Amino acid sequence: METLKSKPLVAIVMGSANDWEVMQQAARQLQDFGIAYDARVISAHRSPDLLFDYIKEVSSQGVQCFIAGAGGAAHLAGVIAGKTTLPVLGVPMPSKYLQGMDSLLSTVQMPKGIPVATFAIGEAGAANAGLFAVAMLSLNNADLSQRLLAFRKKQAEMIKATTLPTL
Ligand code: RP5
Repeated sequence: METLKSKPLVAIVMGSANDWEVMQQAARQLQDFGIAYDARVISAHRSPDLLFDYIKEVSSQGVQCFIAGAGGAAHLAGVIAGKTTLPVLGVPMPSKYLQGMDSLLSTVQMPKGIPVATFAIGEAGAANAGLFAVAMLSLNNADLSQRLLAFRKKQAEMIKATTLPTL
């Protein structure tokens, strides 16, 4: 298996390279907060052995949580959650025929005992999964916590400063 570049705190996994357009929103949030992550394509269905090896590898190297994005019969987050006790954040991908409802339901409807924190379908869900990972990591990192507060403040100020065009 490819060696990890630096020591990532978050592992971002997606079922297909076609998911990257959406999942890069999670990566972008982590990057903005200076959090090292590893992102790669591993499919629960098409490459299950690789998935199990990866979970074991990154868990032993200090990853704190997984963000998993998949579409259609989206079992990736659930399978990861079944193999680790680390928090798993699931992001349902928009899908061609069922508009992501299939991805949402197959990610969110986990059996009791194996939780997956499921986010919104698509870009907002991916970005929020990234921000949620930041929030979890900030519990033990005062500097990160301050930066998250600053992010929220800036966001609120932008809303406050928004004006509508006159009719
Ligand atoms: C899932 O199937 C992937 O997460 C993707 O969203 C969906 C379709 O994959 P591709 O056929 O586009 O590779 O495993």
